Amino acid sequence: MLKCKDGKTLKGAVIGYGFISGKGHIPSYLERAKQKGDVKIIAVADICEARRELAKKTIPEVRVYSDYQSLLKAESQNLDFVDVSTPPCDHARIAMAAMDAGLHVLCEKPLTTTLEEASALLKHAANTKRVLFPCHNYKHAPVVKTIRDVIESGKIGTVRSVTLSTYRNTHAKGVTEWKTDWRRHHEFSGGGIAMDHGSHSFYLTFEWLNTYPTAITAKMSNLEPQKYDTEDNFSAVLTFPNGLAHCHLSWTAGVRKVIYTIQGDQGAITVDDDDMQIAVQHKTSGPEVAQGAVEWKVEKRTISSDWMDASHVSWFNALFEQFKEAIEKDEYVGKEAKEAYRCIEIISKAYESAKNNCLEQKLLGIQS
Ligand SMILES: NC(=O)c1ccc[n+]([C@@H]2O[C@H](COP(=O)([O-])OP(=O)(O)OC[C@H]3O[C@@H](n4cnc5c(N)ncnc54)[C@H](O)[C@@H]3O)[C@@H](O)[C@H]2O)c1
Repeated sequence: MLKCKDGKTLKGAVIGYGFISGKGHIPSYLERAKQKGDVKIIAVADICEARRELAKKTIPEVRVYSDYQSLLKAESQNLDFVDVSTPPCDHARIAMAAMDAGLHVLCEKPLTTTLEEASALLKHAANTKRVLFPCHNYKHAPVVKTIRDVIESGKIGTVRSVTLSTYRNTHAKGVTEWKTDWRRHHEFSGGGIAMDHGSHSFYLTFEWLNTYPTAITAKMSNLEPQKYDTEDNFSAVLTFPNGLAHCHLSWTAGVRKVIYTIQGDQGAITVDDDDMQIAVQHKTSGPEVAQGAVEWKVEKRTISSDWMDASHVSWFNALFEQFKEAIEKDEYVGKEAKEAYRCIEIISKAYESAKNNCLEQKLLGIQS
């Protein structure tokens, strides 16, 4: 039996009916409701009237509210969880109010815009005994799952360094009815591309290097300072006990794609969106051979991962499955929530480093 009010269906409300919830989360909930019947969205809140009108038209079965407070007041008795899909400046406030109303929280990345808020939010989840779960959806991209399988197979040996480059030809834009450029305004976003996309790169480094970083140095730029007050390019090196991770993020690239490389002591994985190459050193017996004489076994695969669809709708169901499991197991502040906290620590310290001529900053991680 599901751990929810009626024992059958997790009832949810979505706060923020914008791009990610309209194109990603809600279509996935509706499909899951049809296929499995274990989730139902009963309410939506959005502060923008045009978005509320669209919600009423697109999902007529859902009750629509003009803010999260009135939604929680009217609906919390009927709900099990809230899905926070607003810009980051409001994540902590909405998540805490939902927990106070007795609800579990699925929260879009970045978890919060400051480390203080992240710390308070994790404590709040533990105190109210409500699950806090971040949308770390890149873990569910098919090509990322294949990277996981290859690393776990031992084929490339022990991972010693990784690089993650994310190229976008523009900043990600929100729906046009509200503030489409909110990511370039600090008051809504808390930061630019590091705040917006950094979490995805950082939680992947934790997985690939199988540990957590201890320090960071970072550099960033804003090519349109007269227009915007957040960064559009970001480069960082994370120090891990067993290697290094280089993360590069750009909103001013000539292309939209990810390029990831994972270097092991026996071989390497190179990913360019859906295309993966696995190169493994061919073991030669006898004396050491000169560099050019090493033989490589190279395997190429294409793993369709829908990278061009920014809503990543096809990855959401697996993420929701994890959230449901956390609810079943009373994992109020589980591994994913703690990793979301670490991502916010990394982003905060990256901003410190960039402000101080790339001065290395220590990362303390979770203290208790
Ligand atoms: N995980 C991913 O791959 C992914 C992809 C895109 C966006 N996101 C995240 O989703 C969140 C939303 O981004 P988006 O692209 O959908 O933005 P968006 O601008 O398209 O949508 C935001 C919506 O929230 C509404 N809103 C703003 N403040 C609100 C508040 N206080 N209460 C209720 N409604 C409010 C706006 O009217 C708008 O409709 C962000 O945290 C973003 O980082 C995640």
